[in-house]
Amino acid sequence: MDAADFYTGIVAEIYGPLKSATQDPERYAAFVQEAGSPALELGCGDGDPLLELRRRGLDVEGVDSSADMLERCRRRAREQGVEVVVHHQRMEALDLPGCYRAIFLAGPTFNLLPDDATALAALRGISRHLAEGGTALVPLFVPSPTPAEQIGRVRTATADDGAELRVSVVSEERNEADRTQTTLLRYERHRDGESVVSDRPWLLHWYPPSGFEELATSAGLSVAPVQDTPGTDLQQYRLQHAG
Ligand SMILES: C[S@@+](CC[C@H](N)C(=O)[O-])C[C@H]1O[C@@H](n2cnc3c(N)ncnc32)[C@H](O)[C@@H]1O
Repeated sequence: MDAADFYTGIVAEIYGPLKSATQDPERYAAFVQEAGSPALELGCGDGDPLLELRRRGLDVEGVDSSADMLERCRRRAREQGVEVVVHHQRMEALDLPGCYRAIFLAGPTFNLLPDDATALAALRGISRHLAEGGTALVPLFVPSPTPAEQIGRVRTATADDGAELRVSVVSEERNEADRTQTTLLRYERHRDGESVVSDRPWLLHWYPPSGFEELATSAGLSVAPVQDTPGTDLQQYRLQHAG
């Protein structure tokens, strides 16, 4: 399975009910207000924080590689009475008609790109779609290995139709040379004696700071001094067209 297709099917269904972290919309609203509009969220998924930013009247569109996540985003938008424009594309093959003053990812979604070549293609896409004077915000982190005691531990939630939803870590492989960590996750849905069980490899790829800056430079972007994000292990990279 391509990394860009991870959030499909049972994973998209379970993502909302068993979400492990929610990004603070305030941070991204402040970024859009500062960098300007229109704005674009890459990897908007089922709509956090995109829908909250739209609710606040900000001119923000979304992009995601998963049709299933976008369907959920559109449904949530309808339920909340919010209008939203979303595009079904991979960020490494970004091809939209317009340019944006602000392009951002909420949380470490850029770490889902599986290797440096895909990351470079995504940075080139960002560069092509960034308006003159615009800014991109890319939060990154270096994942820690899953603690041994969490392997096999099951998290559960109940779906709207009463089904029991379950997620657990089956195993994990870390490759320091490739800078990847692949966590095999088991997704389960049980209802009325019927079960769906699917094991999916969730890949994270990380960068040494100089490595990410080199990729950004190759894409024609300059990197502002990196900022830590209070209360998280995320580092915020701000990119602009190189002068
Ligand atoms: C962790 S979810 C975050 C979703 C949402 N922003 C949130 O915070 O709830 C990551 C999203 O990135 C999308 N994604 C992963 N790889 C992608 C790619 N190559 N291009 C575009 N979207 C991608 C996934 O489909 C998924 O919806």
